[in-house]
Amino acid sequence: MALESIIRAENISETEERDFTSLRPRSFSDYVGQRDIIENLKIAVQAARERGEPLDHLLFHGPPGLGKTTLAYVIAEEMEADIVCTSGPALERPADLVGILTNLKKGDVLFIDEIHRLPRIVEEYIYPAMEDFQIDMVIDPGPHARTVKLELNHFTIVGATTRAGLITGPLRDRFGFSLHLEFYDVKDLRTIISRSAGILSTSITETGAGSIAFRSRGTPRIANRLLKRVRDYAQVMRCETIDENTAIEAMDINGVDEAGLDKLDRSYLTVVVKQYAGGPVGVSAIAATLNEERDTLIDVVEPFLLARGFLNRTSRGRVATAHAYRHLGFTRCGQEELPI
Ligand SMILES: Nc1ncnc2c1ncn2[C@@H]1O[C@H](COP(=O)(O)OP(=O)(O)O)[C@@H](O)[C@H]1O
Ligand SMILES: [Mg+2]
Repeated sequence: MALESIIRAENISETEERDFTSLRPRSFSDYVGQRDIIENLKIAVQAARERGEPLDHLLFHGPPGLGKTTLAYVIAEEMEADIVCTSGPALERPADLVGILTNLKKGDVLFIDEIHRLPRIVEEYIYPAMEDFQIDMVIDPGPHARTVKLELNHFTIVGATTRAGLITGPLRDRFGFSLHLEFYDVKDLRTIISRSAGILSTSITETGAGSIAFRSRGTPRIANRLLKRVRDYAQVMRCETIDENTAIEAMDINGVDEAGLDKLDRSYLTVVVKQYAGGPVGVSAIAATLNEERDTLIDVVEPFLLARGFLNRTSRGRVATAHAYRHLGFTRCGQEELPI
């Protein structure tokens, strides 16, 4: 596997996720950043607990690696509830959903990842379940079909998605909260890196943590991955403590540049600038040229490039900004700038 793909947020293997479990915050007090969301959730959790009721259904949206799954676990922990995890694509048939729902106890949290990929036919079953804690089951399909109502225990659905725009109106309306996770600032990422280094028993200076934070694409998952790559490098170089220089050398070797862009980010921008004269160009054309999945570009690559002003999205397609030209060392006409 290419080194640069290891640090991308979306390619998580199960083992890696297990590795990261120890780094995952378990309570509101461990959870760094996203302060508005946490404030909102603390009030909601306290109010629900005082009333002895389950929490309203919650939807989290935002790019991968920002802490949506983590928040689902934190909520279950804070509500002292059990959590059941599934995902939109795993719920292929209504029976898959019904099987899970009928086994939920009062107050349980049902976490549905990638909820935008829930099949439409399954989605129809979820509406009455979310609203009235009931499902209508069709028995004996055919001429003698009849429906029976099944009563469910009151539970909380926590949905997560990288694409809020793909969620249908009726589904979105059934969530009591719809919360958008933002990229993290360098200060919060530094705190996350220092905390993770402590858990991993790795010694790191504040500036070392700061330089990793600076290149983490605003994303805790990438911050933790970079920390691990830097830790490997420091170990092999016999550095006891990770300082700024060690961190920077390790990240350079891993293809992560000073703005936090990795090889795919740079290839994306280079294609827009060189092959499509800076744009506007449709994302499908970029995906075809790069031989990448269109969804990966939309979910993983573009949000950060847009947030950091490397890219603009217009009605006619994507456009590279002057900032992107400068960063890549191109002049306005797409030629490489000659060293002075
Ligand atoms: N707010 C946070 N504070 C500390 N670590 C975090 C935070 N959010 C995410 N992380 C770390 O980043 C990793 C990825 O988060 P995750 O919840 O899986 O992201 P998502 O579900 O949005 O893709 C987690 O394993 C956790 O270690
Ligand atoms: Mg997740």
